[in-house]
Amino acid sequence: MDGNGRWAQRRGLARVEGHRKGAVAVREVVRASREVGLRALTLYAFSSQNWQRPADEVATLMQLLRDYVIEERAEIMDNAIRLIAIGDVDRLPDFVREPLETLMRDSAGNRAMTLCLALSYGGRESILSTTRALCDMAARGTLKPEDITEDRFSSALQTGGLPQLDLLIRTSGEERLSNFLLWESAYAEFYFTDTFWPEFGRDDLLGALESYHGRERRFGRTTEQILRSHG
Ligand code: FPP
Repeated sequence: MDGNGRWAQRRGLARVEGHRKGAVAVREVVRASREVGLRALTLYAFSSQNWQRPADEVATLMQLLRDYVIEERAEIMDNAIRLIAIGDVDRLPDFVREPLETLMRDSAGNRAMTLCLALSYGGRESILSTTRALCDMAARGTLKPEDITEDRFSSALQTGGLPQLDLLIRTSGEERLSNFLLWESAYAEFYFTDTFWPEFGRDDLLGALESYHGRERRFGRTTEQILRSHG
């Protein structure tokens, strides 16, 4: 969700005002995602590296996250949305972690859509911690190294319960992954837009989905093979 800071600075506002407006955009995009029937939406809200930002910016982001999980509770529950989080959630301050964990627990049985917040998240960190956990099982003799397949690894990641990643959207003209869902994005379609996150709304999401639907996903195969497999 990139471009909050620049959106604010271009208006002569403090960067944190961009994050505030960004949180409003989150609400609109989550609602639209649910309405169009997405099975899952993952938002990169705070990276492992974002802890290095100025303390007041980190504090504002933590406050916005707390406000979000408290204020959106009714909307999330009424719309049968399951909330999960990926990343080093234990690093979050208690005033964020506690309401977050409460809503995750209470929404665990919801089935219409999964909303996944990436918090204190890093793709490399995630691959490393999963690797460590599997190595630990192998060392204890509960897992054979040859049983560490792609599927086994995928399901051991924190994203293991999510459907495959189909579309990855990056806002604000940046064209890099920035440590987001590195393993999961192997066959994802990428959509880059110059729009800053605070201005990204329902129509922008629909535009990204339209672009996605126009693409041919071959997963390494040829066009002819794809056409044949569709009968
Ligand atoms: C990156 O833009 C954005 C972030 C580091 C924070 C994203 C957080 C929110 C949108 C609000 C809180 C989240 C939720 C789920 C309620 P940037 O600041 O790097 O922008 P810049 O590239 O223009 O500097």
